[in-house]
Amino acid sequence: MPQRHTITAALLYANGPVHIGHLAGVYIPADIYARYLRLKGEEVLFVSGSDEHGVPITIRAEAEGITPQQVVDKYHQQIKTSFEELGISFDIYARTSSPVHHQTSSDFFKTLYDQGAFVEKEEEQYFDPEKERFLADRYIVGTCPNCGYEHAYGDQCERCGTSLSPKELGNPRSMLSGATPKLKPSKQWYLPLDKYQQEWIDTWIDEKAKQWKPNVYGQCKSWLNAGLQPRAMTRDLDWGVPVPLPNAEGKVLYVWFDAPIGYISATKEYFIEKARAEGKPDDAYATAWKPYWQHNDTALTHFIGKDNIVFHCIIFPAMLKAHGGYILPTQVPANEFMNLEGDKISTSRNWAVWLHEYLRDFPNKQDVLRYTLAANMPETKDNDFTWKDFQSKNNSELVAILGNFVNRAVVLTHKYFEGKVPPCHQLEAADQALIAELQAAPERIGQAIEAYRFREALSLLMDVARAGNKYFQDTAPWVLYKQDPEGNRTRIETILHIGLQLCANLAALAEPFLPFTAAKLREMLNAPQWSQANPQWQELGNIDLLLVGAPLAEASLLFEKIEDEAIQVQVDRLEGIKQARSLETAQAPSLAPLQAEIVFDDFAKIDLRVGTIVAAEKVKKTKKLLQLTVDTGIDQRTVVSGIAEHYSPEEVIGQQVCLVANLAPRELKGIPSQGMILMAEDAEGKLVFVSPQRLVNNGAGVK
Ligand code: MF3
Ligand code: ZN
Repeated sequence: MPQRHTITAALLYANGPVHIGHLAGVYIPADIYARYLRLKGEEVLFVSGSDEHGVPITIRAEAEGITPQQVVDKYHQQIKTSFEELGISFDIYARTSSPVHHQTSSDFFKTLYDQGAFVEKEEEQYFDPEKERFLADRYIVGTCPNCGYEHAYGDQCERCGTSLSPKELGNPRSMLSGATPKLKPSKQWYLPLDKYQQEWIDTWIDEKAKQWKPNVYGQCKSWLNAGLQPRAMTRDLDWGVPVPLPNAEGKVLYVWFDAPIGYISATKEYFIEKARAEGKPDDAYATAWKPYWQHNDTALTHFIGKDNIVFHCIIFPAMLKAHGGYILPTQVPANEFMNLEGDKISTSRNWAVWLHEYLRDFPNKQDVLRYTLAANMPETKDNDFTWKDFQSKNNSELVAILGNFVNRAVVLTHKYFEGKVPPCHQLEAADQALIAELQAAPERIGQAIEAYRFREALSLLMDVARAGNKYFQDTAPWVLYKQDPEGNRTRIETILHIGLQLCANLAALAEPFLPFTAAKLREMLNAPQWSQANPQWQELGNIDLLLVGAPLAEASLLFEKIEDEAIQVQVDRLEGIKQARSLETAQAPSLAPLQAEIVFDDFAKIDLRVGTIVAAEKVKKTKKLLQLTVDTGIDQRTVVSGIAEHYSPEEVIGQQVCLVANLAPRELKGIPSQGMILMAEDAEGKLVFVSPQRLVNNGAGVK
């Protein structure tokens, strides 16, 4: 019996295009997994779609000056298309604004409500008196209690990274109107996660200790150790699935309540589409979604990024369990993050490689991106994408190993045997060794995929091509041909027979990773004429796929070299973004946190005076220090100051300065320094004098 699999890939917010971080973390591994299981003959349903609710969408709408509906319409289509073009083999790419989803998530909520699962609580929440609406955390800005940044958001300070709650902000303002928000009581429905933790979540997660990836299990444990809190499943917002209760106007389902239910709605939509495609009524398969979500023999696998772990491992399971009748996830192989050229990928900072741009700049190179991202997949730690590495993975792996091997086999067959698969004769040791390696490959690769070790699986695949290259190198059929084409004929036939069979196996084994290449290779090897046109994974690893005498198609290159110029264009584009950004940060520099508060008496102890620099010289053997003589009105004293990189001695003579005049003397490079000159430091670290607006007498106090 084939195993039934429900495979989900995180529903992407439809508020911007897809980038390589999404792909490497979620969609490439999910696609490899789904394709592999299908080849194994398992029953697979692979679902994903757009997450179209929540504040990320409304914020984007405000930024672009369009409606939330326009935002999701625009990006849903763009994202869906670019996934298709990359060959991500979703069975359905649904959207949470669809009527089926609204119905499904609304019913789900209602069931929980009717069962008394929710705890109702009234809490004070910020309300914009001008716009007359409650404000989501992201819609409130104010002063960060941690670093004093004045534009911190209600959920996080982007300057110092602290997570916040809106009530912690100083001087809160509404982002919508600028008005000072008022606290107003509002009722929400909470899922009592604290209660569930005791009842079953603790034990259930503990059972996963050995099954789930350590990063996933570890994150769950740390949430549990901190103790789960009741979590509101509703929000005061006007964009989302309306709360299906009387007296709940202006309230919608929490986006993290409705979005994961989107996997279930997507499954329903799949069967509606199937019915339509077959010309049947929409409800022809009305209950067909159920086995995928409700039968115990289904394996449910959620592919997500690490920022989604708590939602998929704790909150969604809690919802499913509270509802009853649903299975819980079998596996949640969350990945870490992919960085770009050493820097965190960020949509808002435009630091990303966007899929639709990649597809435009590198047409017909889908598999090169798939390969590079799979080979660098952030499975156990964050990883880095660089264009240099992309180029070298293409040129020295795809072209030089896989492409080269296939090309040799096909070209030589055309040259020596009119493009027909030659027969196999007596096997020699080299042949047997290669065949043994090939035999072991499907299972080894399959095991790695089933353990979510996709990088390893890919490298095992490349080992097969590598072995093929080495085999040709060692047996050198071109040398045999040159020496004696007739006398060596049977030997050459055997070598190319084996080489071609290896190619055919590669076409099948590569399919989960490199579907475009696999298709091209199947075409070249005339797959309809194979002993089985579509062998299952378990049937691979033998040398009988190609029938002797079957004609091959023309040889064509599987991969082309990527030249430096094409890479330089991309590197330059990123460099441009970096420069634009550094200009921005120069305008809005990040400031040092405020020092601890002092009382007036602390300040009064500091004797600040105006003085004039009357002499200056560099301190020998240092880069930074100038030795200054300052006339303080009271005395002439030596002050050693770290300004030599900003000012030459000549420049500063005659400069009026403020100095801390009662600082205890300190020795710097053996010179006693009496006092400290006040300097302001600009965003680039340049120091400028703090001095009176006009000349004043030396010794004047600074208050
Ligand atoms: N939209 C969310 C994100 O991008 C993921 C939602 S996954 C789902 O982080 F399970 F909620 F659908
Ligand atoms: Zn801060």
